[in-house]
Amino acid sequence: MRRQEIVSRLRTGWMGREIRILEEADSTNLRAKAAAGEGADAGLVILAEQQTDGRGRRGRAWQSPAGENIYMTVLLRPDFEPEKAPMLTLLAACAAARAVKSPGKRQPQIKWPNDLIINGKKICGILTEMGMKGECTEYVIVGIGINCNQTDFPEELRNRATSLKCEYGCEVCREEIVARFLEEFESLYEEFEKRKSLEFIQDEYETLLVNEGREVCVLEPGKEWTGTAAGITETGELIVKKDSGEICEISSGEVSVRGVYGYV
Ligand code: BTN
Repeated sequence: MRRQEIVSRLRTGWMGREIRILEEADSTNLRAKAAAGEGADAGLVILAEQQTDGRGRRGRAWQSPAGENIYMTVLLRPDFEPEKAPMLTLLAACAAARAVKSPGKRQPQIKWPNDLIINGKKICGILTEMGMKGECTEYVIVGIGINCNQTDFPEELRNRATSLKCEYGCEVCREEIVARFLEEFESLYEEFEKRKSLEFIQDEYETLLVNEGREVCVLEPGKEWTGTAAGITETGELIVKKDSGEICEISSGEVSVRGVYGYV
Protein backbone atom coordinates (compact mmCIF):
# COMPACT_ATOMS: atom_id res chain seq x y z
CA MET A 1 0.00 0.00 0.00
CA ARG A 2 1.56 3.30 -1.09
CA ARG A 3 0.81 6.12 1.33
CA GLN A 4 1.33 8.85 -1.24
CA GLU A 5 -1.23 7.26 -3.56
CA ILE A 6 -3.81 7.53 -0.79
CA VAL A 7 -2.85 10.97 0.47
CA SER A 8 -2.77 12.55 -2.99
CA ARG A 9 -6.38 11.44 -3.57
CA LEU A 10 -7.76 12.17 -0.11
CA ARG A 11 -10.22 15.04 0.14
CA THR A 12 -11.40 14.59 3.72
CA GLY A 13 -11.43 17.08 6.54
CA TRP A 14 -10.38 14.87 9.44
CA MET A 15 -10.81 11.19 8.57
CA GLY A 16 -7.50 9.72 7.47
CA ARG A 17 -5.48 12.78 8.42
CA GLU A 18 -3.29 10.26 10.26
CA ILE A 19 -2.76 6.98 8.44
CA ARG A 20 -0.60 4.19 9.82
CA ILE A 21 0.36 1.53 7.30
CA LEU A 22 1.68 -1.70 8.80
CA GLU A 23 3.40 -4.49 6.87
CA GLU A 24 1.78 -6.97 9.20
CA ALA A 25 -0.66 -6.72 12.09
CA ASP A 26 -2.42 -9.27 14.24
CA SER A 27 -5.62 -7.35 13.52
CA THR A 28 -6.06 -3.70 12.58
CA ASN A 29 -9.00 -3.61 14.99
CA LEU A 30 -6.73 -4.67 17.85
CA ARG A 31 -4.17 -2.06 16.81
CA ALA A 32 -6.84 0.61 16.66
CA LYS A 33 -8.09 -0.31 20.13
CA ALA A 34 -4.55 0.02 21.47
CA ALA A 35 -4.16 3.38 19.73
CA ALA A 36 -7.49 4.54 21.19
CA GLY A 37 -6.21 3.62 24.65
CA GLU A 38 -3.10 5.71 24.00
CA GLY A 39 -5.25 8.73 23.20
CA ALA A 40 -5.16 8.73 19.37
CA ASP A 41 -7.47 11.20 17.67
CA ALA A 42 -10.71 10.45 15.90
CA GLY A 43 -10.10 9.82 12.23
CA LEU A 44 -6.96 7.72 12.71
CA VAL A 45 -6.79 5.00 10.06
CA ILE A 46 -4.78 1.82 10.48
CA LEU A 47 -4.05 -0.27 7.41
CA ALA A 48 -2.19 -3.57 7.21
CA GLU A 49 -0.82 -5.46 4.22
CA GLN A 50 -1.70 -8.66 6.00
CA GLN A 51 -3.24 -9.80 9.26
CA THR A 52 -2.23 -12.82 11.27
CA ASP A 53 -5.31 -12.72 13.51
CA GLY A 54 -7.92 -11.03 11.31
CA ARG A 55 -11.30 -11.04 12.99
CA GLY A 56 -14.79 -11.33 11.62
CA ARG A 57 -18.20 -11.01 13.18
CA ARG A 58 -19.51 -13.64 15.58
CA GLY A 59 -16.02 -14.68 16.62
CA ARG A 60 -15.09 -15.89 13.15
CA ALA A 61 -11.65 -15.42 11.61
CA TRP A 62 -11.11 -13.11 8.62
CA GLN A 63 -8.59 -14.61 6.23
CA SER A 64 -6.10 -11.86 5.43
CA PRO A 65 -3.43 -12.85 2.90
CA ALA A 66 -0.66 -10.37 2.11
CA GLY A 67 -0.62 -7.60 -0.45
CA GLU A 68 -3.90 -8.12 -2.30
CA ASN A 69 -6.72 -6.75 -0.20
CA ILE A 70 -7.68 -3.90 2.10
CA TYR A 71 -7.60 -4.42 5.86
CA MET A 72 -8.42 -1.12 7.46
CA THR A 73 -9.76 0.25 10.74
CA VAL A 74 -11.04 3.76 11.39
CA LEU A 75 -11.07 5.19 14.91
CA LEU A 76 -14.07 7.34 15.87
CA ARG A 77 -14.91 9.16 19.05
CA PRO A 78 -18.64 9.81 18.76
CA ASP A 79 -20.46 11.75 21.41
CA PHE A 80 -23.68 9.80 21.03
CA GLU A 81 -25.01 6.94 23.14
CA PRO A 82 -23.53 3.43 22.77
CA GLU A 83 -26.85 2.09 21.41
CA LYS A 84 -26.28 4.11 18.25
CA ALA A 85 -22.88 2.58 17.47
CA PRO A 86 -24.26 -0.37 15.43
CA MET A 87 -25.79 2.13 13.02
CA LEU A 88 -22.30 3.21 12.01
CA THR A 89 -21.83 -0.22 10.52
CA LEU A 90 -24.67 0.36 8.09
CA LEU A 91 -23.20 3.73 7.16
CA ALA A 92 -19.83 2.08 6.57
CA ALA A 93 -21.51 -0.48 4.31
CA CYS A 94 -23.02 2.32 2.20
CA ALA A 95 -19.69 4.13 2.08
CA ALA A 96 -17.95 0.92 0.99
CA ALA A 97 -20.58 0.27 -1.69
CA ARG A 98 -20.02 3.76 -3.08
CA ALA A 99 -16.24 3.37 -2.87
CA VAL A 100 -15.98 0.10 -4.80
CA LYS A 101 -18.53 0.68 -7.49
CA SER A 102 -17.13 1.04 -10.95
CA PRO A 103 -18.84 2.39 -14.07
CA GLY A 104 -20.08 -0.31 -16.40
CA LYS A 105 -19.56 -3.05 -13.81
CA ARG A 106 -22.04 -4.89 -11.69
CA GLN A 107 -23.05 -2.80 -8.64
CA PRO A 108 -22.27 -4.25 -5.23
CA GLN A 109 -25.27 -4.98 -3.03
CA ILE A 110 -25.60 -5.08 0.74
CA LYS A 111 -26.54 -8.16 2.70
CA TRP A 112 -28.00 -6.80 5.90
CA PRO A 113 -26.51 -5.45 8.02
CA ASN A 114 -23.14 -4.91 6.43
CA ASP A 115 -21.76 -7.48 4.01
CA LEU A 116 -21.09 -6.31 0.47
CA ILE A 117 -22.06 -8.81 -2.16
CA ILE A 118 -21.42 -9.07 -5.87
CA ASN A 119 -22.97 -11.90 -7.87
CA GLY A 120 -24.15 -13.56 -4.67
CA LYS A 121 -20.68 -13.67 -3.12
CA LYS A 122 -19.08 -11.59 -0.42
CA ILE A 123 -16.42 -9.01 -1.24
CA CYS A 124 -16.42 -6.99 1.97
CA GLY A 125 -17.08 -7.44 5.67
CA ILE A 126 -17.26 -4.92 8.48
CA LEU A 127 -16.60 -5.41 12.19
CA THR A 128 -17.54 -2.51 14.45
CA GLU A 129 -16.40 -2.57 18.06
CA MET A 130 -16.81 -0.15 20.91
CA GLY A 131 -14.95 0.98 24.02
CA MET A 132 -16.93 2.36 26.95
CA LYS A 133 -16.07 4.72 29.79
CA GLY A 134 -18.78 4.15 32.37
CA GLU A 135 -22.06 4.60 30.54
CA CYS A 136 -20.52 6.60 27.70
CA THR A 137 -18.97 5.68 24.39
CA GLU A 138 -15.22 6.24 24.65
CA TYR A 139 -14.48 5.17 21.08
CA VAL A 140 -15.86 3.17 18.21
CA ILE A 141 -13.65 1.37 15.74
CA VAL A 142 -14.92 0.36 12.34
CA GLY A 143 -12.86 -2.41 10.77
CA ILE A 144 -13.35 -3.14 7.14
CA GLY A 145 -11.97 -5.86 4.93
CA ILE A 146 -12.36 -5.55 1.16
CA ASN A 147 -11.29 -8.37 -1.15
CA CYS A 148 -9.60 -6.45 -3.94
CA ASN A 149 -7.11 -8.36 -6.06
CA GLN A 150 -7.20 -11.81 -4.49
CA THR A 151 -8.04 -14.48 -7.08
CA ASP A 152 -7.33 -17.66 -5.19
CA PHE A 153 -9.64 -18.49 -2.29
CA PRO A 154 -9.37 -21.41 0.09
CA GLU A 155 -11.70 -24.27 -0.76
CA GLU A 156 -14.08 -23.58 2.15
CA LEU A 157 -14.68 -19.96 1.01
CA ARG A 158 -14.83 -20.52 -2.73
CA ASN A 159 -18.59 -20.55 -3.08
CA ARG A 160 -19.16 -17.62 -0.71
CA ALA A 161 -16.25 -15.21 -1.26
CA THR A 162 -15.05 -13.26 -4.25
CA SER A 163 -13.00 -10.16 -5.01
CA LEU A 164 -13.33 -7.01 -7.08
CA LYS A 165 -10.73 -8.34 -9.50
CA CYS A 166 -12.66 -11.59 -9.99
CA GLU A 167 -15.93 -9.72 -10.58
CA TYR A 168 -14.67 -6.72 -12.55
CA GLY A 169 -12.14 -8.66 -14.60
CA CYS A 170 -9.27 -6.27 -13.86
CA GLU A 171 -6.95 -5.23 -11.04
CA VAL A 172 -8.27 -2.46 -8.83
CA CYS A 173 -6.26 0.30 -7.17
CA ARG A 174 -6.49 -0.32 -3.42
CA GLU A 175 -5.29 3.18 -2.53
CA GLU A 176 -8.04 4.75 -4.62
CA ILE A 177 -10.66 2.64 -2.88
CA VAL A 178 -9.27 3.54 0.55
CA ALA A 179 -9.38 7.26 -0.29
CA ARG A 180 -12.89 7.02 -1.73
CA PHE A 181 -14.14 5.04 1.25
CA LEU A 182 -12.77 7.58 3.73
CA GLU A 183 -14.33 10.45 1.83
CA GLU A 184 -17.75 8.78 1.62
CA PHE A 185 -17.65 7.57 5.20
CA GLU A 186 -16.66 10.96 6.55
CA SER A 187 -19.54 12.67 4.80
CA LEU A 188 -22.10 10.03 5.87
CA TYR A 189 -20.77 10.11 9.43
CA GLU A 190 -21.06 13.90 9.65
CA GLU A 191 -24.62 13.76 8.39
CA PHE A 192 -25.43 11.04 10.91
CA GLU A 193 -23.92 13.09 13.75
CA LYS A 194 -26.37 15.88 12.90
CA ARG A 195 -29.44 13.71 12.47
CA LYS A 196 -28.76 10.79 14.84
CA SER A 197 -30.84 8.60 12.55
CA LEU A 198 -30.34 6.64 9.35
CA GLU A 199 -33.38 8.15 7.67
CA PHE A 200 -31.28 10.17 5.23
CA ILE A 201 -29.66 7.00 3.88
CA GLN A 202 -32.64 4.62 4.09
CA ASP A 203 -33.57 4.86 0.39
CA GLU A 204 -30.04 4.29 -0.83
CA TYR A 205 -29.52 1.44 1.61
CA GLU A 206 -32.77 -0.26 0.60
CA THR A 207 -31.94 0.07 -3.09
CA LEU A 208 -28.67 -1.74 -2.41
CA LEU A 209 -30.21 -4.31 -0.08
CA VAL A 210 -29.88 -7.75 -1.63
CA ASN A 211 -32.44 -9.15 0.81
CA GLU A 212 -35.13 -6.64 -0.17
CA GLY A 213 -38.38 -8.42 -1.03
CA ARG A 214 -36.70 -11.80 -0.64
CA GLU A 215 -37.40 -14.64 1.71
CA VAL A 216 -34.91 -14.71 4.56
CA CYS A 217 -34.23 -17.13 7.33
CA VAL A 218 -33.86 -15.38 10.70
CA LEU A 219 -31.54 -17.21 13.07
CA GLU A 220 -32.38 -16.27 16.63
CA PRO A 221 -30.70 -17.99 19.54
CA GLY A 222 -32.67 -21.21 19.93
CA LYS A 223 -35.08 -20.68 17.05
CA GLU A 224 -35.23 -20.14 13.32
CA TRP A 225 -38.04 -18.64 11.30
CA THR A 226 -38.62 -17.33 7.81
CA GLY A 227 -40.22 -14.23 6.39
CA THR A 228 -39.82 -11.61 3.69
CA ALA A 229 -37.36 -8.74 4.11
CA ALA A 230 -38.97 -5.35 3.63
CA GLY A 231 -36.30 -2.73 4.24
CA ILE A 232 -34.73 -1.21 7.33
CA THR A 233 -35.95 1.08 10.07
CA GLU A 234 -34.37 4.47 10.65
CA THR A 235 -32.30 2.87 13.39
CA GLY A 236 -30.99 0.07 11.19
CA GLU A 237 -33.14 -2.93 12.17
CA LEU A 238 -34.19 -5.22 9.35
CA ILE A 239 -37.95 -5.25 8.79
CA VAL A 240 -39.19 -8.79 8.20
CA LYS A 241 -42.76 -9.71 7.40
CA LYS A 242 -43.73 -13.14 8.70
CA ASP A 243 -45.99 -15.35 6.61
CA SER A 244 -48.70 -14.70 9.22
CA GLY A 245 -48.52 -11.00 8.28
CA GLU A 246 -46.84 -10.00 11.53
CA ILE A 247 -44.08 -7.39 11.04
CA CYS A 248 -40.89 -7.86 13.04
CA GLU A 249 -37.89 -5.57 13.44
CA ILE A 250 -34.70 -7.44 14.04
CA SER A 251 -31.44 -6.02 15.33
CA SER A 252 -28.07 -7.22 14.20
CA GLY A 253 -26.67 -7.85 17.66
CA GLU A 254 -29.12 -10.64 18.48
CA VAL A 255 -29.79 -12.47 15.28
CA SER A 256 -28.35 -13.23 11.89
CA VAL A 257 -30.07 -13.60 8.59
CA ARG A 258 -29.42 -15.70 5.56
CA GLY A 259 -31.23 -16.40 2.36
CA VAL A 260 -33.66 -19.28 2.47
CA TYR A 261 -31.83 -20.94 -0.42
CA GLY A 262 -28.25 -20.15 0.57
CA TYR A 263 -25.97 -17.39 1.78
CA VAL A 264 -27.88 -14.42 0.29
C1 BTN B 1 -17.19 -10.02 8.87
O1 BTN B 1 -17.83 -9.95 7.82
O2 BTN B 1 -17.23 -11.05 9.57
C2 BTN B 1 -16.37 -8.84 9.31
C3 BTN B 1 -14.98 -8.88 8.77
C4 BTN B 1 -14.15 -7.68 9.15
C5 BTN B 1 -12.71 -7.80 8.67
C6 BTN B 1 -11.91 -6.55 8.90
S1 BTN B 1 -10.33 -6.61 8.13
C7 BTN B 1 -9.85 -5.17 8.97
C8 BTN B 1 -10.39 -5.29 10.38
N1 BTN B 1 -9.48 -6.02 11.23
C9 BTN B 1 -10.00 -7.18 11.63
O3 BTN B 1 -9.41 -8.01 12.36
N2 BTN B 1 -11.24 -7.33 11.14
C10 BTN B 1 -11.64 -6.19 10.35
